[in-house]
Amino acid sequence: MTTLGTGLDSRTAEYRANREALLGKLAELDAEQAKALAGGGPKYTERHHKRGKLLARERIELLVDQDGPFLELSPLAAWGTEFPVGASVVTGIGVVEGVECLIVANDPTVRGGASNPWTLRKTFRANDIAMQNRLPVISLVESGGADLPSQSEIFIPGGRAFRDLTRLSAAGIPTISTVFGNATAGGAYVPGMSDYTVMVDGRSKVFLGGPPLVKMATGEESDDESLGGARMHGSTSGLADYVATDEVDAIRLTRRIVARLNWRKLGPAAQAVEDPLHDEEELLGLVPTDPRIPFDPREVLARLVDGSRFDEFKPDYGTSLVTGWADLHGYPIGILANARGVLFSEEAQKATQFIQLANAKDTPLLFLQNTTGYMVGAQYEQGGIIKHGAMMINAVSNSKVPHLTVVMGASYGAGNYGMCGRAYDPRFLFTWPNAKSAVMGPVQLAGVLSIVARQAAAAKGQDYDEEHDAAMRQVVEGQIEQQSLAAFLSGRLYDDGVIDPRDTRTVLGLCLSAIHSGQIKGAEGYGVFRM
Ligand code: COA
Repeated sequence: MTTLGTGLDSRTAEYRANREALLGKLAELDAEQAKALAGGGPKYTERHHKRGKLLARERIELLVDQDGPFLELSPLAAWGTEFPVGASVVTGIGVVEGVECLIVANDPTVRGGASNPWTLRKTFRANDIAMQNRLPVISLVESGGADLPSQSEIFIPGGRAFRDLTRLSAAGIPTISTVFGNATAGGAYVPGMSDYTVMVDGRSKVFLGGPPLVKMATGEESDDESLGGARMHGSTSGLADYVATDEVDAIRLTRRIVARLNWRKLGPAAQAVEDPLHDEEELLGLVPTDPRIPFDPREVLARLVDGSRFDEFKPDYGTSLVTGWADLHGYPIGILANARGVLFSEEAQKATQFIQLANAKDTPLLFLQNTTGYMVGAQYEQGGIIKHGAMMINAVSNSKVPHLTVVMGASYGAGNYGMCGRAYDPRFLFTWPNAKSAVMGPVQLAGVLSIVARQAAAAKGQDYDEEHDAAMRQVVEGQIEQQSLAAFLSGRLYDDGVIDPRDTRTVLGLCLSAIHSGQIKGAEGYGVFRM
């Protein structure tokens, strides 16, 4: 057993500069996340409060256990798009009556809580998390339905929202829908497809078509209450299982439903938890300001795992990738962490063996990414870098134990894939604010484009315009740099959130606990390994 020490010196100028730079990035992210917290802005939040209604986050706060955790997911969804940051919905994992639940709450202060294309993506991601980790789903509903101007992008794919709810139910994962206001048209199927429904007297309006639409369609005169009020649904249609007197009562009833789920987690329970020996605060001074400079992931592990204990596997082989066993918040995990950026054949083979070992003993895996990808060049191609990289990607793809991924720095090229990037379905993926991800670095990408254009000109016998080339490179470098940033990637739901490095242990602990709601079982087969 090895207890990790540290070589990090918090008195150096480098440490201070790294810390300052990362704090600056965190402040920038806070400002962006504040936009999501502000919802539709003061005008709409005040109007909402004046109507005697709670905001989405206030509803969640009342729903979860007092002083219990709430891990918000995708708070920067829609960042950098035409839609408001946060995508008019709040999603996350919260503990209700001691049960970890996936909570989805519409934000009615943003365009009436209507669903735009990013709302859908964020909700689908939340549903996937619920399904993969066996988490009961609580929907806090108040929405104007489809965002009408963008209906062409949401109407067809939007059907998945209801499909997901019923598939969760079929998988034995309970779904609860608490309706605080409007749930019109498609929105009416959220309670319609849920196992349990709660509606608020005088507030819930659940109908396929409101009075104007009914008038247009059939000529019938009607009103909100007779078409879709809580009392009508509670006593006549049967769509409401519980009718609450007000919002707080609705939340009380929702908590009672969870308390009566008779819910049992299927994964092994956590063992005794021990804090790391080294201060997680120091992670801020560890990450170099220049993303091209690698750092020793053992310094991260010393601040991440229980008792700073790490049993390294194959420490002298394929040393650009650190692999080994540890516990995190009492849960055993296998860790793969990039040490020096590039992955060679040895690293790929070591990773493949390690992933198989974790599957053989039903142990979840944590990938700590800081990679510029697999090594290129004649020597490495001849040494079989493609087949070795493919071997590692095969193992990651077919591994069945839960994966967690944290992008600590660079995530470029197929290294993103081998180290379990988004496309490889990690149960959760978080990014540090300094992280960057793209097919390759901006300078390299612009340089490749320039070489290709130069060769094309030469093939046609034309002169190459150097001035145009320099301008093109500058524009492309700027664009790729912008598209590689953490906020941009998080805005597109390529992660589940950008986190403060100091919160990594807490966030991963919450995720591991949620993951253990389901069974943990390793793979019994892989694709054909090319040897
Ligand atoms: N698509 C796009 N924008 C919508 C919207 C929707 N479905 N629903 C509401 N909005 C916008 C409104 O245009 C308004 O924008 P503005 O303030 O810039 O003018 C803003 O959201 C707030 O709407 P408002 O009507 O003032 O809020 P409200 O709380 O009084 O009422 C609703 C909310 C949802 C009851 C009401 O807006 C409504 O009935 N919307 C249409 C519902 C519908 O039929 N949806 C189609 C379902 S498929």
